[in-house]
Amino acid sequence: MIAPTSSSRSGTPERLEARDVRVHFSGVKAVDGVDLDLRRDEVMGLIGPNGAGKTTLVNALTGFQRLTTGTITLGAEVVTTASPQALARKGLTRTFQAVRPFAELTVLENIELGAVGTGSRRRAARAAAATIVERVGLAEMASSLAGNLPHGLARRLSIGRALATAPNFLLLDEPAAGLNEAESDELVELISSIHSEDGCGVLVIEHDVRLIMRLCHRIQVLDYGKTIAVGTPTEVQSDAAVITAYLGTKRGRHVAGS
Ligand SMILES: Nc1ncnc2c1ncn2[C@@H]1O[C@H](COP(=O)(O)OP(=O)(O)OP(=O)(O)O)[C@@H](O)[C@H]1O
Ligand SMILES: [Mg+2]
Repeated sequence: MIAPTSSSRSGTPERLEARDVRVHFSGVKAVDGVDLDLRRDEVMGLIGPNGAGKTTLVNALTGFQRLTTGTITLGAEVVTTASPQALARKGLTRTFQAVRPFAELTVLENIELGAVGTGSRRRAARAAAATIVERVGLAEMASSLAGNLPHGLARRLSIGRALATAPNFLLLDEPAAGLNEAESDELVELISSIHSEDGCGVLVIEHDVRLIMRLCHRIQVLDYGKTIAVGTPTEVQSDAAVITAYLGTKRGRHVAGS
């Protein structure tokens, strides 16, 4: 068997890897020795109770949070201290738990900015945005001000902006938060297509267990800043440590899917 390589022959990184990542905030061990591997050919779920460290880990992976210790590599390149902008230019992009489009710009302009931010010229950015606005189902709202979008569509816009950076790896922080069931089903379609059509590795943080189980090839579970399980959806669902973490309601935390 040929050993998998971390970069393809064309130089596109095939893996995003985190090794022994710790992010400590004076006393709070938000992330405490986590390894994570995201391949470009998979959709991976990152789940865990509220406060488990999911967002902090994604912040660390994408240059928004300095690591206390640990290493992050993208393909063969160590990127532990790279800025979010540098990482986006290398094909690593994320969306945020809170949607925050540029409210005074149109939907199309918001998407264009994603492309311009990673070095596209204006004309190329406009062409890319015209395709992406269709892709994320916002063509009819292209010239509306982003600030006027209802919540579900604003979530789609944030994915459109991320797609405009032409990512190889896309990390989504609770993309289905606040969506109804129909919107959530459409989101599953969109994320699946980002994986299958764009050849993009996707990491999804999500409390909606139904969505995670439908979408993900592999799931990693965090609790109190540590990995407590990694496996297929079926393996993780029946893992004793995962069940305990989610049922530990005496700790006053959110139960996934509730
Ligand atoms: N900037 C910060 N300063 C101090 N503590 C922080 C900071 N950011 C996060 N924390 C703490 O780190 C822990 C992990 O927070 P994080 O937001 O990563 O959790 P999460 O798994 O994303 O939770 P949720 O599901 O609620 O979004 C929490 O205890 C949180 O209060
Ligand atoms: Mg979070």
